Amino acid sequence: MYIIIKNIDCLVTCAGQGRKAGAAMKDAGIIENGYVVIENGKIKAIGSGEGYLEYLKEYSKVIDGRGKTVTPGLVDPHTHLVYAGSRENELPMKLNKVGYIEILNSGGGILSTVRNTRAASIESLVEASKKRLDLMLRHGTTTVESKSGYGLDLETERKLLKVNQILNEEHEVDIVSTFMGAHAIPPEFKGNREGFIDTLINEMIPKVAEENLAEFIDCFCEEGVFSTEETEKILKAGEEHGFKLKLHGDEVESIGGAELAGKLKCISAEHLIAASDKGIKALSDNNVVAVLLPSTAFYLMVGKFARARDMIDAGVAVALATDCNPGTSPTESLQTVMTFACFGMRMLPEEVINAMTINAASAINREKEIGSIEVGKRADIAIFNSPNLNYLIYHFGINAIDTVIKDGKIVVSNL
Ligand code: NIG
Ligand code: FE
Repeated sequence: MYIIIKNIDCLVTCAGQGRKAGAAMKDAGIIENGYVVIENGKIKAIGSGEGYLEYLKEYSKVIDGRGKTVTPGLVDPHTHLVYAGSRENELPMKLNKVGYIEILNSGGGILSTVRNTRAASIESLVEASKKRLDLMLRHGTTTVESKSGYGLDLETERKLLKVNQILNEEHEVDIVSTFMGAHAIPPEFKGNREGFIDTLINEMIPKVAEENLAEFIDCFCEEGVFSTEETEKILKAGEEHGFKLKLHGDEVESIGGAELAGKLKCISAEHLIAASDKGIKALSDNNVVAVLLPSTAFYLMVGKFARARDMIDAGVAVALATDCNPGTSPTESLQTVMTFACFGMRMLPEEVINAMTINAASAINREKEIGSIEVGKRADIAIFNSPNLNYLIYHFGINAIDTVIKDGKIVVSNL
């Protein structure tokens, strides 16, 4: 059966030769009065005007695209989706200017979520994470990267990665798994960081690889968490076990995270609020995707955002993500991230959409299958109540989704 979306005011295809770096991000492949034909879960045809008529059969499902902006299903390439509990108790501390790393080092922050997550059953984690995925889908997201990292011991990290597997099988949204045991030093290794890094390298990484529980490895490279030397050691061990590399870097302080991501030729470097000029050049020279998380910059109240404009000028491919987590970005909505990307970092609407579709897909090694509306690609599509792309970002703070299509099936309808 065909699904035909016709007379689309603004069809944003994000088509091209895959990932878009630098100035190429301004081209979102927009077609006015466009149509998309979907068959067997894939994109069958695209064009403008009446070209869809040749596919029109009595039994086709036809969606009228008048007044709508249609984009590829949004891809969220950086989340900490699986955790238990919440951290609204930190809000008054934040407002009293207690710093993020200070809260962490006094046993709160990530470590308080670790306590809750260790105590949670696999069933309750699946249930809580499904609710978050439902919200993501209803806001237009069809593929999500999900990092472990609230276990910090082998047993709990495996539990979190198994939750990812269950979610991938049971929920419409596709999940891509990242092992992030190097998210903080757990309490049982306080004062013995070498001991924890040894455990990561000699026990946790080999086991996660052997059980095929993740595709990527990530490490929180930050002043007060893991140094650049420690990060390099951990990521290299991951690489030897077949993981592709990601790096949380320069989120609070500039300690050379972006430079290291370049040196290790990571697929992506993430956060980068404090990245240096040298770091930005290293990303560009080594084709590392910069995954920026402006809702986190906003929520940390650090008074600045990652330098998206400088990165784009330097020829970097920028992607955007929610960072969905209980501490620094408790949101599931990439539409919220659109607002901060535009108004916080001055990214153009075309750049924003490329950053959360084709470039986001590239940051999780999926750009051949998803991230753009092109013939042969999977039919993951978001339909917004918005007559053009500028309007979608201009009218903020609401959910503009009308319909979401995942693998050629309508999974959210007339919201
Ligand atoms: O991306 N930076 C490290 N991890 C998360 C926050 C985790 C938390 O605070 O629970 C982040 O900001
Ligand atoms: Fe993060």
